[in-house]
Amino acid sequence: MYKIVEKKVLSKDIKLLGVIAPHVTFNAKAGNFIIVIPDEKGERIPLTIYDWNREKGIVYMVFQEIGLSTTKLGMLKEGDEIFAVAGPFGKPFHSEKYGNTVVVGGGVGVPAIFPIARQLRKDGNKVTSIIGYRTKDMVVLEDEMKTVSDPCIVATNDGSHGQKGFVTDVLQSLIDKGGKIDLVVAVGPVVMMKAVSELTMKYNIKTIVSLNAMMVDATGMCGGCRVTVGGEVKFACVDGPDFDGHKVDFNQLTSRLGAYKEHEKLSIDHNCNMNKGIREAIDGRK
Ligand SMILES: Cc1cc2nc3c(=O)[nH]c(=O)nc-3n(C[C@H](O)[C@H](O)[C@H](O)COP(=O)(O)OP(=O)(O)OC[C@H]3O[C@@H](n4cnc5c(N)ncnc54)[C@H](O)[C@@H]3O)c2cc1C
Ligand code: FES
Repeated sequence: MYKIVEKKVLSKDIKLLGVIAPHVTFNAKAGNFIIVIPDEKGERIPLTIYDWNREKGIVYMVFQEIGLSTTKLGMLKEGDEIFAVAGPFGKPFHSEKYGNTVVVGGGVGVPAIFPIARQLRKDGNKVTSIIGYRTKDMVVLEDEMKTVSDPCIVATNDGSHGQKGFVTDVLQSLIDKGGKIDLVVAVGPVVMMKAVSELTMKYNIKTIVSLNAMMVDATGMCGGCRVTVGGEVKFACVDGPDFDGHKVDFNQLTSRLGAYKEHEKLSIDHNCNMNKGIREAIDGRK
């Protein structure tokens, strides 16, 4: 069991938890993820390691409440315990001195981009961050991103905060200004990573994306996270989650992510019948 020592509500449905898990912090690096099981009857869900405190053995995760497991996690309080926290998993983000880098985070991709931006900066790169959200109420971690970027540009689809438009609009305007961009890193919804990759492909800018494929064991055994990159089969949990965005088959990823929609709905209904709190938490988000 893993004790929650910090909880923050970052927006209506995005929460941060700090959990004692020294086996994770011991070797955590930017780009790694953990597998969390909220309670003893729960399923395994992958979450990016947002931050860590090696001295205190605290790992920080930021998640959007979207279905059953993330809702269960979001209901936990400081002092409560999580059934299992395993990791770190995945290959760490490969950082070196590239020069002029742009990191792009969309929604709940922002927590994943934070340690990457920090590492790139530490390695001597100029880091411009573009963080995008649907609307002002959904903006999270803006101050934290400012501490690792020069500059950090915020965009909302409806213009209620920062620049109006998509992250790709901001990226296009940076490209149009003519400064050389040596690397783009994009993490967020599949549709956003695909749009970023299509844009940078036109300008031949190296682009890394972090794939949120469906994961179960995270050890390369189950095949759940199978993706196609450059025509080859890869397992996102052990070969990634970072891949060359210009080579990823995003359409296949989208269709595989939707494969269990009916089961996810059934699982919510079943659990809501047994635990009214879950139904209230889900209804409260609507
Ligand atoms: C490497 C990786 C890192 C991730 N990091 C974060 C993060 O930092 N913060 C965050 O909010 N989300 C993150 N996710 C997505 C997160 O794992 C899903 O939102 C979560 O599993 C949803 O579970 P649920 O039971 O609440 O929802 P469900 O109703 O079960 O599923 C909702 C949707 O989430 C996705 N999903 C469900 N189960 C899984 C699974 N086992 N593996 C991957 N995707 C799944 C599917 O698209 C599904 O349609 C990450 C995913 C991966 C693969
Ligand atoms: S999650 Fe099972 S092979 Fe990657």
